[in-house]
Amino acid sequence: MTEKNAKLVIGDKTYEFPIISGSVGPDVIDIRTLYKQTGLFTFDPGYTSTGSTESQITYIDGDEGTLLYRGYPIEQLAEKSNFVEVAYLLLNGELPTAAEYDKFSETVIRHTMLHEQIVKFYTGFRRDAHPMAITCGAVGAMSAFYHDSTDITDEKQREIATIRLIAKMPTIVAWAYKYSIGQPFVYPRNDLDFASNFLRMCFAVPAEEYEVSPTLARAMDRIFTLHADHEQNASTSTVRLAGSSHANPFACIAAGVASLWGPAHGGANEAALMMLREIGTPDRIPEYVARAKDKSDPFRLMGFGHRVYKNYDPRAKVMQETAREVLAELGVENNPTLQVAQQLEKIALEDEYFVEKKLYPNVDFYSGIILDAIGFPTSMFTAIFALARTVGWVSQWKEMIEDPTQKIGRPRQLYTGSDSRDYTDIGTR
Ligand code: ACO
Repeated sequence: MTEKNAKLVIGDKTYEFPIISGSVGPDVIDIRTLYKQTGLFTFDPGYTSTGSTESQITYIDGDEGTLLYRGYPIEQLAEKSNFVEVAYLLLNGELPTAAEYDKFSETVIRHTMLHEQIVKFYTGFRRDAHPMAITCGAVGAMSAFYHDSTDITDEKQREIATIRLIAKMPTIVAWAYKYSIGQPFVYPRNDLDFASNFLRMCFAVPAEEYEVSPTLARAMDRIFTLHADHEQNASTSTVRLAGSSHANPFACIAAGVASLWGPAHGGANEAALMMLREIGTPDRIPEYVARAKDKSDPFRLMGFGHRVYKNYDPRAKVMQETAREVLAELGVENNPTLQVAQQLEKIALEDEYFVEKKLYPNVDFYSGIILDAIGFPTSMFTAIFALARTVGWVSQWKEMIEDPTQKIGRPRQLYTGSDSRDYTDIGTR
């Protein structure tokens, strides 16, 4: 695998480090022996130049705007596949045969119900709790309800935990929503597909029948597919770091939910829609673009920019098309928020600041418009993202746990605090 070496010269000494090639993408310098050889650490806050792991799951080419799940382009999966099949692919590395698909799908469906005592657990939250707060708590609490799948050294238990997380997440998230609006929980149904089941658990009420629109179910499924994995982002790295200590999978995924919540990560879809609404009409766009460019103003165009994509986020393209389809189905093509979004995208993409910094719309720019049109409040957006990303988190967690070279994650630091000093009594300070 290794053909080249990198040379590091410090003073009069030269050290060599192997350069390793992956299947595609940039090579990496293997510095695992750096400290041992030199007594020095690397310094890379934000990990902009650090590969934290080897992985075979997802590949992103940020310059080209390419996203592959196990080698398959996201556009093809969004068009031809569905979320359950994508979940199988991410977990197992290959697309399922028809029989494998049926078995996997059936297993997921049969695990969608939550332990009945979890219903009581929900009522402990304040009525106005954010769905992400409830989701984070409920996922973590799964480790208190499913003791038979917390032993990570047992392959069967790992498999059951994985299925439980994927299958129960829609119920957890839908119930977080129901609780926040004071409606009764709607139990999952085994005759519905994954996305339709979720929509029904969110929007059905016991007083009347609920018909799931196939267009909305398809849009929902596409949103899940597009958010399923994104290699070593903040929340996935959080899951891996938490899991590296051999914590149970439910606790690790709860850590991922917490990390996803922030507005610089999963919270951006909520923030992007709020921003589009605040802008309100296309004539106010220049004012907001000017603010985004003003270094003395902390405002940023939400839904724009990405650590890895320095080109159009391929997921944003699919989202834009889906937004049009959904709004047409609902008969609201002239939705003012979509108009502001499209105008803002056009203006920003022609603006020198955004061109120079390679800031393009990301997946969150259009997803909020779709979720809003389907009927979700903004507070649900990140929880829906968490539901979908759970598949990526568990796939990455599984890959890590099954890697025989896996070690606890333990970064070092550049210490700039006080050197050793003596304690002084309070009266003498
Ligand atoms: N609006 C205005 N300027 C921006 C934006 C933006 N949305 N994003 C980046 N910039 C500018 C920065 O000010 C910086 O300028 P400088 O070089 O003059 O200092 C430059 O572009 C590079 O930005 P960084 O913050 O250094 O880039 P980083 O890779 O650390 O950040 C991030 C990426 C966090 C996504 C950033 O672009 C951002 O905050 N975007 C808005 C939030 C958002 O949409 N997040 C969703 C990400 S996708 C996801 O998580 C699913």
